[in-house]
Amino acid sequence: MNFYCLECNLKLSNSDITKFKCPCKKVNIKPHINYQKNIIKLTKNIFNYKNKTQKFIHGKTVIPLSIPTFSYQEAIESFQSIASTYLVYGDKVKKFEKMFANYSNVKHSTLVTSGSTANSLALAALTDHSLKRRINPGDEIIAPALTFATSVYPILDIGAVPVLVDIDLETLNIDEKQIEKAITKKTKAIMPVHLLGNPCKIDVIKKIAKKHNLFLIEDGADSSGAEYHGKKIGSWGDLSTYSFFFTHIMSTIEGGMVNTNNPHLAELLKSKRSFGWIRDLKNKKKYEKMYSNIDPRFLFISRGFNFKPTEIQGAFGIHQIKKLDSFVEARRKNANFWTKELKKYNKSFLTIAEQPNTKSAWYGFPIIVQKKASFSKRDLINFLNSKGVQTRPILSGNIAQQPVAKTFKFKKMKLTNSEFVNDYSFWIGNHHGIGKIEREAIVDYFDEFMSKY
Ligand SMILES: Cc1ncc(COP(=O)(O)O)c(C=O)c1O
Repeated sequence: MNFYCLECNLKLSNSDITKFKCPCKKVNIKPHINYQKNIIKLTKNIFNYKNKTQKFIHGKTVIPLSIPTFSYQEAIESFQSIASTYLVYGDKVKKFEKMFANYSNVKHSTLVTSGSTANSLALAALTDHSLKRRINPGDEIIAPALTFATSVYPILDIGAVPVLVDIDLETLNIDEKQIEKAITKKTKAIMPVHLLGNPCKIDVIKKIAKKHNLFLIEDGADSSGAEYHGKKIGSWGDLSTYSFFFTHIMSTIEGGMVNTNNPHLAELLKSKRSFGWIRDLKNKKKYEKMYSNIDPRFLFISRGFNFKPTEIQGAFGIHQIKKLDSFVEARRKNANFWTKELKKYNKSFLTIAEQPNTKSAWYGFPIIVQKKASFSKRDLINFLNSKGVQTRPILSGNIAQQPVAKTFKFKKMKLTNSEFVNDYSFWIGNHHGIGKIEREAIVDYFDEFMSKY
């Protein structure tokens, strides 16, 4: 943990700390170190108390959709940023970006304020005037119909037309076999979503994108830590996005990331994240020279946004990334158990299985009630809710069925599976707070419900 001089905000070295002397030499820093040590002790006490396991009461204890992913490490790191008084985008964000790029095995990661703004930034980058091949208003972008709303809105925001393609019932992801049928002269990009943490057949989709010279943007909002054929989700696309919202696999409270291996796109992301100015660019000297009559602190080269994260998000990220694999493993253990145990009911409802050579991050565990089942989706949801099991719809469902779809222009292919899943599905929570007792209780609840049908 770092300690700071409260007088000058300098990060103290080990020798400053042992000698109780800050290089600023302004004051005795012994009390400063003690205040910070006290905070560390208190924070650990608070989280030790909060993390105490509660007794599970079968049929009564709530099994929530998600639980916090953070503990005292993130809280202390955040507090230290507060104590330093440096809270806007800075070193902790940059450190987390490097750690995330290494983790994903990509060259560049750019932290932003949410998964939604990550999608907006990624698509805006692909419209930039500096690109020879870019997305223009009226161009078409292929996306799955079963999705989340802010996977689609950013397509509209750049003036492009979403072309909604059906999903595959085995994964709930875009059906790669339908993609080529949706390609027209206007198609510029494919934007698959790794829904609920399950990887798409991204190798096949990448081949289609290459064959037709299309951009590939992966929406991996639900899929931090997931893998396809040993390669991280979020390292396949020209640009790939993630969400670190509070309920996601790992969290920076709110937050999102854009990954790329392309150095020019990385520069565009960094510029557009911060108003379109040059301050964070590797190439900034080039622009300073080119526009020597403009103050470089306010030199704008592309149309941008304010999607800058804070140091608190960086502070969370640098600890969350170290915990990510353990979160994913806990979710896989639950999901693989449920898939196996609930298979016997597949005439009444379907579940999703992890596909060969993939590692799903299992954002949630989906249930799809069969049309011919002798109970309704609502009957099953009500029963699970009565046992304390929380449920949610599968994100926006088929976006073409949402009222908002009446307000924008889009194209759609035949959406038979998306309509079915929209009408007959929901998901239950799956997270590292669910252990053997809760995992087995959930199967007991399904057994009890099914004994009536
Ligand atoms: C597929 C998908 N894309 C984008 C988002 C938006 O992420 P955020 O909530 O961080 O804005 C979500 C949110 O859960 C999502 O599931």
